[in-house]
Amino acid sequence: MEENRRVLVIDDDEGIRETYKVIFTPEVESDILSRGSALFDIDFSADLKKNKPKIRKTADYKLSVAETGMQGITLVKDAVLENRPFGVAFIDMKMPGMNGAETSRQIWDIDPKIRIVIVTAYSEYTPDDIIATTGRDDIFYLRKPFNHEEILQFARALTNEWNLEQKQEILQAELKEANEALENMNRSLESMNRTLESMNKNLKEKVEKQAAMIVQTDKMASVGLLAAGVAHEINNPLSFINANLSALKRYMTKIDDLHQKYNDVELFLRYSGLENAPALLEELAEFKKDNKIELIMADIKDLTDESLDGIERIKTIVNDLKTFSRIDEADYTYLDINKAIDTTINILWNEIKYKAEIIKHYGTIPDVRCFPQKISQVFMNLLLNAVQAIKEHGTITINTQLISQNNKQEDFVQIRIKDTGCGIPKENINRLFEPFFTTKPVGTGTGLGLSITYEIIKAHKGIIEVSSEVGQGTEISVILPTGV
Ligand SMILES: Nc1ncnc2c1ncn2[C@@H]1O[C@H](COP(=O)(O)OP(=O)(O)OP(=O)(O)O)[C@@H](O)[C@H]1O
Ligand SMILES: [Mg+2]
Repeated sequence: MEENRRVLVIDDDEGIRETYKVIFTPEVESDILSRGSALFDIDFSADLKKNKPKIRKTADYKLSVAETGMQGITLVKDAVLENRPFGVAFIDMKMPGMNGAETSRQIWDIDPKIRIVIVTAYSEYTPDDIIATTGRDDIFYLRKPFNHEEILQFARALTNEWNLEQKQEILQAELKEANEALENMNRSLESMNRTLESMNKNLKEKVEKQAAMIVQTDKMASVGLLAAGVAHEINNPLSFINANLSALKRYMTKIDDLHQKYNDVELFLRYSGLENAPALLEELAEFKKDNKIELIMADIKDLTDESLDGIERIKTIVNDLKTFSRIDEADYTYLDINKAIDTTINILWNEIKYKAEIIKHYGTIPDVRCFPQKISQVFMNLLLNAVQAIKEHGTITINTQLISQNNKQEDFVQIRIKDTGCGIPKENINRLFEPFFTTKPVGTGTGLGLSITYEIIKAHKGIIEVSSEVGQGTEISVILPTGV
């Protein structure tokens, strides 16, 4: 922006007007100078010469002059209309027609920003008179006679002030604009915020819904897992109880026949006399022998015991379900591992007998403190896997031994179950303990046996290890702390 250096002079005295011209355009010299010098009580030309460089330096003002108040007012009007307002006006107080105060008042009506300096002689007018007329107290006075430096100082100071005010106004306008822009931005930000908030709310609702769904699926998955686990656990005893009952049913028909035979013999003896007794007894003995009644009687006892054992296991599982896998401290007791393995073999005998020969290398081991049902379940799972791995016929070797660790307080019992089955390919070894990992046909294996086994061993602070060779067989080692 160009600086405002426009100066207006209103004075009825021609000499003084010329003096102003000299002050603001120092090159101008005329005979009027001498008149002005007389009026201002200085040797103007001498002063001018002396100060020439100084004046030149600052005198880049655009000066307009008027002889009367009316003329001055017209100039101000034009300047405002042309948008090149004056910065400062030097107005003579005492003029014919309109005096300086009235002229100032009217000028300010047109351009309130113009700075006004009233030039007056001592005692002509008091500042109060002038303030009363103009209605403004930001008016300056210069007493006659004045020195051109004073004029320049006023011009300099007041145009500077004008320019500063102008800059300030522009700055303020810019600031206002910036403020408005900021407010607009703020408003858009607020609306963005509202959009974001509603998006956030929607998202939150979605996440909550999804979380609820995940929990639901999770619950279902664990219910499924539990159901599958229970099915697996119940399936084994159920299948041998089933097999035992079928055997018992077969035996029953034979015992029925025997019973019938006895009834016949009884009737015969009662009505036809005792002379036929030896022959009948012989017939009975033969029947018993032919039908292996002795053996059947012994087997019936075993089958019933085994079935009762199985029913007991199912009962336990159902009880386990009730407490939902919470293990009762009361069940934590000492177990004879060798005996437990034997019991398990008995239970599984129907599955084992046609496929594998069992070789036992039982060591002398202390009872192990554990949850016996769970540990029996481990033997059951491992033995079943061993049997199932054998295609035609093979052997299952069972080793038990005590491992004493010198620097440890506790003893450990190691159980190794080794089969001559198909073996496990390397890529499957790491997946054995995964729930539902199975290579068996659908309906045969659930893939839970080893994962359940792993959990049980872990709960007993034990270790389970697998070593296997495809085509050679598999050995599973379980190490349990004796828990003394
Ligand atoms: N002794 C073994 N010999 C060969 N493969 C084995 C042996 N034990 C386990 N496996 C392999 O590990 C898989 C997982 O065994 P796991 O006992 O967990 O499940 P499963 O026997 O398939 O089914 P489930 O035990 O639930 O009836 C088996 O499918 C089999 O491939
Ligand atoms: Mg299994």
